[in-house]
Amino acid sequence: MAEWDRDHLSSLGINVKLPLKKGFGKTDRIDYWWTEPIWMGVALTVALVYTALRVVFWDGSIHYDDHRVTSPIFSPDILHMLHVTNHPGWMNSAMLILWIPFGFRGTCYYMRRVYHRTFFQNPTGCMVSKPEVSYSIGYKGEKGLFILNNIHRYMLYLAIMILSVKFYDVLLTTQFDDGSTAISIGTLVLGIEAFLLFMYVASCHAFRHLFGGGMDQWRGGISGVFGAIYRWVSGVNVHHAFWFWTSLAMVFLGDLFVWAVAEEFISDQILLGW
Ligand code: FES
Repeated sequence: MAEWDRDHLSSLGINVKLPLKKGFGKTDRIDYWWTEPIWMGVALTVALVYTALRVVFWDGSIHYDDHRVTSPIFSPDILHMLHVTNHPGWMNSAMLILWIPFGFRGTCYYMRRVYHRTFFQNPTGCMVSKPEVSYSIGYKGEKGLFILNNIHRYMLYLAIMILSVKFYDVLLTTQFDDGSTAISIGTLVLGIEAFLLFMYVASCHAFRHLFGGGMDQWRGGISGVFGAIYRWVSGVNVHHAFWFWTSLAMVFLGDLFVWAVAEEFISDQILLGW
């Protein structure tokens, strides 16, 4: 059937079955369609395992210079910020706050696409045959446990609060014990992390709805401002996947940097002081 005919019938609401080969991974596609789900699956698995090991078993060296620079995984370091000292020895701030970034990223619209394709193989890819079991389970929408995806907008509000602490963390890196102020490599590392996280949050679909998405018109006054924000967010939203991965990667690079400085494998250099 010609492509035009298929499109025409679809536009009339007539269900057209596309020719699809039978058998997991079978396809007529000639591109390397499997590379993306593979590297995404590996990256997410490494991120989960790294986080679990770091938080549960290796939660030492999470800051240096007496909390001037704190690891992004353990920030906000609420136990330190609230001066809580009588907590169990095995407890750390990450155990108390990681549910927010996990909840925010786990319910992200882009993330849903990634885990459905990568881990559930439902679908395996466009025009690629999925496993037999995925046909029988099928996609039932946001039901059962997946109904939790609907809390994404509320996770956004919490993520915005975490993000503001991230910028406070950057400011803190410029305050040295002797009262001097300077920009160090640690400032740059946490600064880049905060910026990438800001772009990830700002390119969120729910964020766009928050700023102008629910309005009938954007003419003048506050609605004009919201309209301008909406248009800007729509522009960066196109690259939401890029901000997802770069902000995630920077959390771990930042953690490795803080750990290496705290363990004295490398040192944090002052770049600009005043
Ligand atoms: Fe991805 Fe909101 S849609 S963070």
